[in-house]
Amino acid sequence: VRVFNFAAGPATLPLEVLEQARAEMTDWQGSGMSVMEVSHRSKAFVAVAQQAEADLRELMAIPPNYKVLFLQGGATGMFAAIPLNLTTPDSLVEFINTGAWSKKAISEAKKYCRVNIMADEAASNYSTVPDAASLRVDPKAAYLHYTPNETIGGVEFPYVPAAGGVPVVADMSSTILSRPVDVSQFGLIYAGAQKNIGPSGICVVIVRDDLIGKARPGTPSVWDFDAMAREGSMLNTPPTFGIYVAGLVFKWLKKQGGLAAVGERNRNKAERLYAAIDNSGYYANPVAKHCRSWMNVPFTIPNPDLEKTFCAEAAKAGLVNLEGHRSVGGMRASIYNAMGIDGVDALIAFMRDFQQRHG
Ligand SMILES: Cc1ncc(COP(=O)(O)O)c(C=O)c1O
Repeated sequence: VRVFNFAAGPATLPLEVLEQARAEMTDWQGSGMSVMEVSHRSKAFVAVAQQAEADLRELMAIPPNYKVLFLQGGATGMFAAIPLNLTTPDSLVEFINTGAWSKKAISEAKKYCRVNIMADEAASNYSTVPDAASLRVDPKAAYLHYTPNETIGGVEFPYVPAAGGVPVVADMSSTILSRPVDVSQFGLIYAGAQKNIGPSGICVVIVRDDLIGKARPGTPSVWDFDAMAREGSMLNTPPTFGIYVAGLVFKWLKKQGGLAAVGERNRNKAERLYAAIDNSGYYANPVAKHCRSWMNVPFTIPNPDLEKTFCAEAAKAGLVNLEGHRSVGGMRASIYNAMGIDGVDALIAFMRDFQQRHG
């Protein structure tokens, strides 16, 4: 039986996508083989990769002057690859620190270039984002990096930082495809696949043309954005199964009505869950209301000793992976695109029941 899987990543995938992958598993497109067993250079597979890119471009309305890359090494790989491609050792990069993933990006970038943390939400214990008007970006900076959605803290920017012509680089790992974005506001968008795109193993990079072609000497070829763009992300063997499933997810998103429709559904899911938390007098979410994540909803209960019981009883009811991140405790419900409103409502019903029995 399928459960409602609230994991932060790898995360739940659309059932229809899984069923199609299963149906095609041993005989893909009449080849007598699975998609995993065909050459990445075959016409049939190249068509899959090209269609995946075309569908992603359509979904996100990616302008023609942006390259779309499917790279390996995850978002963590990009924490290094982005400075390698966009900076020299003397370059200054501006960072906004809103929590755990910002910090990881910062410590990796420090290996390659000069880093300035222009805003740091430590004083709020990373429960909010800086005021948009307070941001001052050095006009000489190579780029401004921020994390639009902090997967662990559940903090999401309600705005895109204005950087006055300095390219904005966004780690959209846990928010990409959750609603429409204006890609032209960004120099580079990147996202690990395992939340809203598909299986782990791919990182999508969307990068403006003028930012590539300047990788430092010593950059591994598989992380050289220009080299990979010229080779259609196939300078080496790509994660073919991941690209295939990502392509199925993009088709599924189009069938859902595209990102405007998906965004409305996500807003509704998040509003219901936060309302249930706020109105309970029992559960609590620590994030400032204007920047609560639509994708990752951390919550606590008054008696932390009951957290294990909560998660165990939830799992028995078919609601799994509600444990908070090991660094923060509490609970966390990740409600990505593939989590339906039925899953959110089932969670809310369970939370009410748990509160009645233990509150
Ligand atoms: C916002 C964010 N950035 C980066 C990462 C790291 O991604 P990966 O494990 O693909 O390197 C994650 C993973 O959960 C994330 O949520």
